[in-house]
This record gives sequence, structure tokens and C-alpha cells, in this order.
Amino acid sequence: MGAGKSTLGPTLAERLGRPFVSTDEVVEERAGSSVAELFARQGEPAFRELEERAALDVLARRTLSVIELGGGGLLSAATRAGLEESAFTLHLETTPEEAWDRVAASGRPLARDPEDFRALFEERRALYEAANASVCDLDGAVLAAAGVDVSAGTLDRLGELVPGMGTVELIADALVESLYGQRVRVALGTRLAGFHVVPAGERAKTASEAERLWSALRAGRSGTIVAVGGGSTLDVAGFVAATYLRGVPWISVPTTLLAQVDAAIGGKTAIDLPEGKNVVGAFHWPARSVIDPEVLATLSAAEVKNGRAEVVKTGLLAGERLWELETSQQVRCCAAFKSAICLRDPHDRGGRAQLNLGHTFAHALETASGFSLAHGHAVALGLLAALRVSGLESDARMVQEILRPPLAKVDRDGAWAALARDKKADEGGPRLILLDAPGKPRVGVAVEPRIVRAALDSLIA
Ligand SMILES: NC(=O)c1ccc[n+]([C@@H]2O[C@H](COP(=O)([O-])OP(=O)(O)OC[C@H]3O[C@@H](n4cnc5c(N)ncnc54)[C@H](O)[C@@H]3O)[C@@H](O)[C@H]2O)c1
Repeated sequence: MGAGKSTLGPTLAERLGRPFVSTDEVVEERAGSSVAELFARQGEPAFRELEERAALDVLARRTLSVIELGGGGLLSAATRAGLEESAFTLHLETTPEEAWDRVAASGRPLARDPEDFRALFEERRALYEAANASVCDLDGAVLAAAGVDVSAGTLDRLGELVPGMGTVELIADALVESLYGQRVRVALGTRLAGFHVVPAGERAKTASEAERLWSALRAGRSGTIVAVGGGSTLDVAGFVAATYLRGVPWISVPTTLLAQVDAAIGGKTAIDLPEGKNVVGAFHWPARSVIDPEVLATLSAAEVKNGRAEVVKTGLLAGERLWELETSQQVRCCAAFKSAICLRDPHDRGGRAQLNLGHTFAHALETASGFSLAHGHAVALGLLAALRVSGLESDARMVQEILRPPLAKVDRDGAWAALARDKKADEGGPRLILLDAPGKPRVGVAVEPRIVRAALDSLIA
């Protein structure tokens, strides 16, 4: 009571594209009177009975929803069992003082005396703390729902963050292994059963690397793959996890800015073919994404710049200048933004496509470079093209100012051929993700090939 559920709940539901249901409102609708009146007329036990029935009915609907459970709802063992069976529960953290400030003047039946209120708060605390996650704000709620942990020091808590009791096999590139391998080994302790090193960068995302990993893995179906590294390592390791033994769980532990704000989240995994980027892949949501912004301290300036391209992309989609935040806040906000979009559209059948802003150009440049052009560099260029085609010249100048990507040294015809082959192109010409304005993306816009070609050419030296 007074934690802020009725404020946060509807906003969370809107962000996840799900209906919002309040069990108090269901009770009031059914009883034809307010909770306060019910308490006064029939007493608390009668209200609790109605509340329990409402909660169980709402849970039985099985429609993906955000449900606000009344403050005392957890007192019912039947409701607790229903939640355990079919809900992911979030405890919205608050202090007794904060909660009292919010409810003191509300006239609620159980908020009439500050001492009684505090006693009730303490009495119920243990019930709330048994929730699947404790959060204190909207981004925290979205991240928890997506299985994403963002906080300094999580790398050392990896052992407790890998669900289950089975064995763990690690996949990392050689540089990340040398920097963080020992800490990860210590964190995973005796559960660690194997360590596999992949080449650094895009060279890891090949069919031969995937095959080598499939053969080297020893984990059974109860095992978990933990991938530690940048987006390239996560993409190949996630793909291997999706396909090995028809799918085993995996944990993404991103160590580049790009992977922390983007690649580690949402379950897209892939390898490249000479014909194109990410041509072979699978949707396989990581059981957890463990994001420790402190590991970014060892990242080279060039890799930070690559990651900033995806931060700017997210800021353009969100309509907020996220790139101006302090780094760990950038990571948290971008990770929450991507998590919400992917929870709304896990299989890329609608709104998720917006995350590919600038990527049609980026993938064409990467493919034409034989994958030697860094993804973040290509995305920075792709954003410029997308903004120019959108007619947002001043935003394009701003992005140019922030990211200053050098023009790509690739063959123009080769890049155009790659763009035409890209999965986003179809018979009517390439379909792009454009912006009406920052924060207002439009997906699948058919654009005349001549305009797309000119925009692509403007990115090439
Ligand atoms: N699956 C998705 O949703 C998704 C989203 C965006 C990008 N991606 C993919 O991600 C890939 C790019 O990933 P990336 O930019 O993270 O690069 P990367 O994985 O290629 O890594 C870049 C370099 O950074 C080094 N590195 C990693 N962590 C480090 C650390 N903490 N300190 C020092 N060095 C470190 C690596 O060893 C490597 O040399 C592309 O293949 C792209 O297609 C996937």
C-alpha cells in the first residue's frame, strides 16, 4: 500500500503493450462499491475473500497482462500459489515513511494511524520480498521482466545469477578471457565445466566456429552456456545455445558498450555468411543478461565509439538525448528501452523492426567490406543515411557531430548489391525504417531505389 503501484503499473503496461488490471478495481466493479465501503459494511475478511477470487480469476485469464495486486493480496495462500504458477512478480520497493506520506490523506481503511501502518508494513515485508524481483522504478521493472540485471559488480555475482544447478560452459574471446576469465571462473566456482575461446570480433560469427563449438560442448540439456564478451561472441554463442541439443539455456554477459546497450538483449542470435550479415540465426532469449558497466573501463576508445552509435540510435528512437547521460545510466536506459520493445515483439513481427534504424545501410557496408568494418562504425554511417532520407537534416548534422564516423572504404556497387540482397529489401524496392521526428519511428517505408542509392553512396569514400 502506497508503494506507487497504481502510478507505475499502467505506465509499465503501456510500455509492454499489455493490458493493465487492478484487482481492487475488479473487486469494486463486482461489488458495486468502493474498497473503503466494503471494509466498512462487510469487514476485512469478506473483502479478502472477494480480493482472492478477483486475483485468481485475473490470473486464470492467462492473457499477458500487468496486474496490480492490492496491498494485502499476498496474505492469501491461494493467491500466492496462483502467482507462483503463472506470474512473474515484482516487488515495488518503498520505505514505510514514503508509503505513509502517499496514503496518509487517502482515507484507506488500513491507513488511518501511522503506528498501525508501520506495523502492518513490517508484518507484510517478508511476503513481498519473496517476489521474483525487487525494483524501484519503471526501467527497473522492465529490466527485471526481461531478465536483465544492470549494476556495477554483477560480474562477480555471476554464480548466483545463473539459474538452475547444472553445469556451466563458458564462451569468450581471447582478449576478454585474458581480462575477465579469472574473475568469471571464481564467480562460477565448481559449476564451471568447460571454457571455450572464440576469435575476437566478427570472425567469431562463422559456421565453422559454430561447428567447432557444437563439437566441443559437453553440457547436457540441464547445462547452461555463459557467453562473456562483445556482440560477436554473444551472437555466435547464443546461436550455438539455440541449436545445441535443440536448445540449451544461455546467459549473456556483455562486455562492450555496444553489447550492453543492444546485442545482449532480446534473444536475436546469428552467424554471418559471405553473402550477408546475420543470414543464419535463431531467436533464443537469454535466461539472463548480466550487465556490469564497470567492465567498460578496459574498452578501447574505438570500441566505445562503436557502442555510442547504438546509444545514439536508441536515443533517436526514444526521442531522448540518452547519449548525454553518464555511461552507466546510458547503459541502463538503453537496455530498458530495448527490453521493452523486445518484450512487446519478441519475434520481430512488428514494432521491433524500429531497432534496425540505419541498419539496412550498415549491414550493406559491413558485407561489402568483407566484415572488416566494425558494426558500430557502420551503424553510425547508417544513422546518417536514415536521417537524411527521413528529411531530418539537422538531426543528421547533430549525429555527425557526436559520432564523426569516417566514410567507409568499400566498393559502391558491392554495397548496393548487398543492400538489395538484404532481408529488408523486397520487390517494391528497399523498405527502410525512417523517423518522422526523434521518438517517432516509421517502419517498412518504401523508398525509391534512386534515393536509397544516393544515401548509400554518400557514406562511401
Ligand atoms: N543480436 C543482436 O541483437 C545484436 C545487436 C547489435 C549488434 N549485434 C552484433 O554485435 C556485433 C558487434 O559487437 P561489438 O561491437 O560488441 O564487438 P565485438 O564483439 O566484435 O568486440 C569488439 C572487440 O572488443 C573487445 N572487447 C570486448 N569486451 C572488452 C572489454 N571489456 N575490454 C576490452 N576489450 C573488450 C573484443 O575482444 C573485440 O576485440 C556485430 O556482429 C553485430 O551484428 C547483435
